Amino acid sequence: MSDESRPTPAQTPVAAVIPAAGRGVRLGPGAPKALRALNGTPMLIHAIRALAASRHVSLVVVVAPPDGAAEVKSLLDAHALPDRTDFLVVPGGESRQESVRLGLDALPPQYGIVLVHDAARPLVPVDTVDAVIEAVRDGAPAVVPVLPLADTVKEVEPAAVAGDPEAVLATPERARLRAVQTPQGFDRETLVRAHETVTENVTDDASMVEQLGPTVVAVPGHEEAFKVTRPLDLVLAEAVLARRRLNDGF
Ligand code: C5P
Repeated sequence: MSDESRPTPAQTPVAAVIPAAGRGVRLGPGAPKALRALNGTPMLIHAIRALAASRHVSLVVVVAPPDGAAEVKSLLDAHALPDRTDFLVVPGGESRQESVRLGLDALPPQYGIVLVHDAARPLVPVDTVDAVIEAVRDGAPAVVPVLPLADTVKEVEPAAVAGDPEAVLATPERARLRAVQTPQGFDRETLVRAHETVTENVTDDASMVEQLGPTVVAVPGHEEAFKVTRPLDLVLAEAVLARRRLNDGF
């Protein structure tokens, strides 16, 4: 692309990739986690709406369970979604990393900024999404929304058998620690390079960029962007939705 035709950062189109191919075993038996209902609507639909609520996001790529792309496509057809946003569904892979990579492979060339958002964080507020996009537009190659920790954190020697006592090795200074949420935002070229270069398993995309070298920037996250992981999180998520409905005057 010539310099004249390259969009300015404020014009660079933004796409969101939503990996939703996990089984969600920690939630207990049942449908894949992303397809479980919150107040009657699948978690994935909440997550898609949360990202599409940003007027900066013009494409959402949903990475479906490997054998579930058709089901996810019909789910999208069955729910109201904003007209100004394009949607794509692609089949995912064995690991979250592979699923994200398959989502990136499906992105048309014009999208210079990419958000990666867990389907398991259905209630992220639009202001958090926009804060991440703004930090990428301001020049950060990778951006993560974070929260300070309430608990003190210990590093342990993991026991061979879950539930057995474990030796505590260290106590990192809590004031320097942050819990990391999504959406994480990236300059597309940086994220693609990270996925091509880093092969070991990671739990978030930004850590791949850290391994590559560029500085990852943290912006304030939001308590409603929590990850639905265990059964109690479903109760909390429905309570948040109920509070929102009250506040919206319905
Ligand atoms: O398992 P975890 O809660 O870390 O998953 C985070 C996100 O990654 C979820 O939205 C899940 O659906 C997704 N995932 C995926 N492909 C996998 C495993 C997880 O898209 N193979």
